[in-house]
Amino acid sequence: MLYPEDLIEEVRTRNDIVDVISEYVKLTKRGSTYFGLCPFHNEKTPSFSVTPGKQMYYCFGCGAGGNVITFLMEYENYTFPEAVQVLAARAGIELPKAEMSAERRKEADLKTVLFEIHKEAGRYFYYQLKTPQGEKAYRYLTGRGLTDETIRHFGLGYSHPYRDDLYLYMKKKGYPDSILKETGLFRIEEKGASDKFWNRVMYPIMDVNSRIIGFGGRVMGEGEPKYLNSPETKLFDKSRNLYGLNFARSAKRPYLLMCEGYMDVISLHQAGFTNAVASLGTALTLPQANLLKRYTDQVILTYDSDGAGTKAAVRAIPILKEAGLSVKVLSLSPYKDPDEFIQNLGAEAYEQRAGEASNHFLFEIGVIKREYDLSDPEQKTEFYHAIAQKLLEFPEELERNNYLDAVCGKYFIPKDSLRQLVNQKGRQVGLTARREPGKRAEERRTGPEKEDGLRTSQRMLLTWLANDGQVYEKVRDWIGPEDFTAMLYQKVAGMLFEQLERGEVAPGRILNHFINDEEEYREVARIFHAELPAELTKEEKEKAFSETVKRVKKNSLDRIGRTVTDMAQLQRVMQEQAALANLHISFD
Ligand code: CTP
Ligand code: MN
Repeated sequence: MLYPEDLIEEVRTRNDIVDVISEYVKLTKRGSTYFGLCPFHNEKTPSFSVTPGKQMYYCFGCGAGGNVITFLMEYENYTFPEAVQVLAARAGIELPKAEMSAERRKEADLKTVLFEIHKEAGRYFYYQLKTPQGEKAYRYLTGRGLTDETIRHFGLGYSHPYRDDLYLYMKKKGYPDSILKETGLFRIEEKGASDKFWNRVMYPIMDVNSRIIGFGGRVMGEGEPKYLNSPETKLFDKSRNLYGLNFARSAKRPYLLMCEGYMDVISLHQAGFTNAVASLGTALTLPQANLLKRYTDQVILTYDSDGAGTKAAVRAIPILKEAGLSVKVLSLSPYKDPDEFIQNLGAEAYEQRAGEASNHFLFEIGVIKREYDLSDPEQKTEFYHAIAQKLLEFPEELERNNYLDAVCGKYFIPKDSLRQLVNQKGRQVGLTARREPGKRAEERRTGPEKEDGLRTSQRMLLTWLANDGQVYEKVRDWIGPEDFTAMLYQKVAGMLFEQLERGEVAPGRILNHFINDEEEYREVARIFHAELPAELTKEEKEKAFSETVKRVKKNSLDRIGRTVTDMAQLQRVMQEQAALANLHISFD
């Protein structure tokens, strides 16, 4: 980290979160909390809360949460040091000058430097586009219908035809090879160094906070490979980022458009569909689907209409559903991809297609249909069997019937016949057919969900501890940070227990430690903002609390018990287990 921790802490505490956020969001006080419209997602009723006592904000709608520093990082797209600098200036705190020597850089947080290098590289590529040698790249982009405004908005650029141009530029800025290596933008070997990208049109890839984390480079015209992408680095994780999401997250539409290519996203945004995103040259992953779920409940797939695109859509559907998203599929026919569609038919026609997008089930059936020749009665029967089979994937009868109605309507299948077939199949292969989805549900219940239950208990206990110092007195003899088996919670518990011991709880301070990992800091913010069961009686509360403590401790003891080899220690574990059985904590 660039600045010492206590200095960061001073900056944080001297900037009241309500004052700072009020400069951006209109807040209204309700009880001890302020509420307003969330600046991080589109909403009509306020679910964005700011709690002065905790010096934190949290949105109950989209899960955005953090302290005054992360607010600026999210809102203004600042890096951590940038946010600290702005807040320091605001509070009149002088920060030590960050020296840019190689030595100093090494000390500085590597990720911050990597962000900085990517930002500089992005600027450099953008600048090249406007030089005489970048002209053909500029012409290529405008030739594809992109406006200057779009090129600027997406920061498109051009990588120089010389093979080590960017490398020399970065060296001149003083970055050592050891760090440049980590960017994935260079090939650095004994015999010399060269740029990964040269003579390509450059697409910066940004994270949700609009920080460049990698690049895609396209050949102009024909050539192989068409795209070259940054490799995975400390910044760039292809499975956890989506192209365009930094803009799409604040698009004012009820759904997100999911497409395949960079150009599709750019083209759609230019046409006014600022809610379009794309996966990064790989198949859609569950972490990406979960990321989408933070910003929307509905995704419309608008993948290429060719075989590969259809296959990719068929694979993406169950993943999106797994994340709890409703999925529709947009037909681009007769055009190949959204870019081509927009170029030919324009935004209005596309909007219409979005409105007509079909439910994913009907799309899947459409794909299956292609395998059968429906003029052949035998194949037609097989097709109906395949539909019946697919319908059995819906565990709920009501849902199954709705889809049955829809598919019968579309393919003119007599409803009663198909229903009969489904029922017959259900009975016949019944066990197998039902076991399949059933088994998965079961696995979820006993496997991961049990784990989830434990995490929930651990998280609740942390919430309790953070909200009520009195509670700490009651459990300090029973529970320690090491009893939190989920690693993230253990880290949080370590800091929280230390603060509780000193009698000064500052959740906002704990949060600072998770600033470099968006996933983690959201989860930690959630811990501090979760609601404790308010309407419970004292007895009910005591019972709930005791059960939570028991559950957390029991898991921890069981875990030790499983690995312990020393008899005396085993005996201690057993004694504690016995004592735990009778634990009742009273709130007096
Ligand atoms: N892709 C890739 N490497 C390739 C080809 C494709 O990483 N060699 C990824 C890129 O993210 C690309 C996406 O797959 O954006 C979709 O590929 P394609 O449809 O071929 O690219 P478009 O973005 O449509 O590009 P263009 O319109 O310029 O052909
Ligand atoms: Mn394309």
